[in-house]
Amino acid sequence: MSEISSTSCSIYVSENISKDIIRFLKANKKGYSKLFVLVDENSLKHCYPWLVASVPQLAEAEIIEIESGEENKTIEICTQIWSLLSEYGADRNSLFINLGGGVICDLGGFAASCFKRGIPFINIPTTLLSQVDASVGGKTGINSDHLKNEVGLFSSPAAVFVSTRFLSTINARHLLSGFAEIIKHALISDSKQWEKITECSFDDLDELNTCIMASIVLKNEVVMQDPTEKGLRKILNFGHSIGHALETFFMEQNGAHHLLHGEAVAIGIVCESYLSHKVCKLKKEELETITKFVLKTYQPVIMDSIYFNRLVELMKHDKKNNSGAINFSLLSSIGKCEINKSASADLIIESLKYYSEQVKLAAK
Ligand code: GLY
Repeated sequence: MSEISSTSCSIYVSENISKDIIRFLKANKKGYSKLFVLVDENSLKHCYPWLVASVPQLAEAEIIEIESGEENKTIEICTQIWSLLSEYGADRNSLFINLGGGVICDLGGFAASCFKRGIPFINIPTTLLSQVDASVGGKTGINSDHLKNEVGLFSSPAAVFVSTRFLSTINARHLLSGFAEIIKHALISDSKQWEKITECSFDDLDELNTCIMASIVLKNEVVMQDPTEKGLRKILNFGHSIGHALETFFMEQNGAHHLLHGEAVAIGIVCESYLSHKVCKLKKEELETITKFVLKTYQPVIMDSIYFNRLVELMKHDKKNNSGAINFSLLSSIGKCEINKSASADLIIESLKYYSEQVKLAAK
């Protein structure tokens, strides 16, 4: 078991987290007045049975189930959760347990932090994406008007429990989605780790565990220095200015059949590496290495250039912008990232064309 000390909480990483959870629950000497577990249909089916069998205190918990999917990360779902909490008599001595992926952790953290001005919550992230991203840094929130994480707050969970045992329940597409954040953490802060992850195999649980641990540590080092994203933490947005716009765009176009977060971020990483080459002098060879690795790892996505202006429009809504300019965090080299870099709409469109051309070249 490893314990990482983060902003006002500990992150426990081990294959079997039940002992850590039991210890955590017992540490509250007065006990919790009630326990609530937020799940979706996937975590209820695949993760909850193991959890309740290995943490006996949870047998008494009320289960709150929501439908899985980014499209459910809404204020309406929060309102339903708040109504249920009131109905079940939740108070500030209750504990809210988020068991699931990024949507459950983000939305559940937000719902718990607003209910009666905040009740304690813990996160048990069950997807690779949520284990390496939502697990660290206390960002909670919901989507609004189709804009990702438009409403939310920084609010630390009381503890986070990460276990690779849940990863056997998710499919390869979702594993790869999480892997995009692992790629990002290495690219922005550790060139040695970048070399290691390009060799990482998902089939070897020990290797994956080491990879997850290293990725959480890298993110945590950034978050600890800048918990509320005044400066340094913005480097974690590398790949996300374009990635978020793509994710929103595909959600608008295709409803439920949208790109997964990490799939969008992987494209964002290629496009923003192109911008890094143009704006921050990232070497051409490094741009090519990153591009090759991403194209080899992820299914190519064909994007019609008639939509590029809409994508730029969506980027203008990004929370990271000020005074109308589109802000990026860009690489000056693999392992080093600079914040508050801007790029013109023309250059952004050029970067989208670069990705599309590379996809065509790779297919030949
Ligand atoms: N996902 C980026 C951050 O936590 O800051």
